[in-house]
Amino acid sequence: MIPRIIVHGGAWKIAEETHADHIAGVHAAAEAGWQILAAGGSALDAVEQAVVMMEDDPTFDAGVGSVLNRAGEIEMDAILMDGRTLKLGAVAAVRGITNPIRLARLIFDDTDHSLLVGEGARRFAEAKGMRLCAQAELTVPREIERFRRLQQMPDYHLAYEFAPDPQGTVGAVAIDAEGHVAAATSTGGAAYKLPGRVGDSPLVGSGAYADDLTGAASATGHGESIMRVVLCKTATDAIGRGMSAQQAAEFAIRTLFERVGGYGGVIVADRHGQVGFAYNTPHMAVAWVEPDGTVRARIKD
Ligand code: GLY
Repeated sequence: MIPRIIVHGGAWKIAEETHADHIAGVHAAAEAGWQILAAGGSALDAVEQAVVMMEDDPTFDAGVGSVLNRAGEIEMDAILMDGRTLKLGAVAAVRGITNPIRLARLIFDDTDHSLLVGEGARRFAEAKGMRLCAQAELTVPREIERFRRLQQMPDYHLAYEFAPDPQGTVGAVAIDAEGHVAAATSTGGAAYKLPGRVGDSPLVGSGAYADDLTGAASATGHGESIMRVVLCKTATDAIGRGMSAQQAAEFAIRTLFERVGGYGGVIVADRHGQVGFAYNTPHMAVAWVEPDGTVRARIKD
């Protein structure tokens, strides 16, 4: 099997002046994941590394650069899933770490649990020797400005129509040389969310799904809508019914809009080594690696 990887850096309306940063960020993430796959590494390691790259990049709403909630705090969600065993590790509403996807991997590797939340997740990170950080290390001026703007909008809510850009949840899906698939997703969530709000990203089947029998998917967009249609499981189930990765991505996004009026995007890799993506927002930052190793990145068709 020729390995493949596809990554996203969020959907929504991405401001023109940040397009180059988004393209550079997803390109670098796809390249990093590909290097692992090309060296014979696992899909799981590849998607984790791709997401780490984007968590470290302040362009995106994940890790450094995450949005602030209504209390001015950063609470992050992440998930990682292995298509071989259907095992997963996830964190929700965790504070004070730079790489939630690394914490999801520790939960995956070192516990019998699937999802840790809030203070318990942070304490587990500390017990495992992860470096804890002050919120200031994760906070970028763009998000302080956004927070102040939103404070002036008493009627603000999280629906797409009102979401100011950018909203850069990140994710990656891959298939490795042994034909195993994996998915990973990480986010700071929705800007100005209520403290304790958890979106689709860490919820299995909604923010990510991976099954060697079908394929893998990672979502971005309006979490409250995505979880209602279990978007990533909708996409991988469509592969099971005979659709290609591209058809499955388009089907899932059509379902998101037709069933709940939702907006977002999804990337998909199928068990045959094809990749695809679809979105119904103005933009989605996406990058993938062709079978010959060429990296392609785009923000709009
Ligand atoms: N899709 C990310 C979120 O709604 O939290």
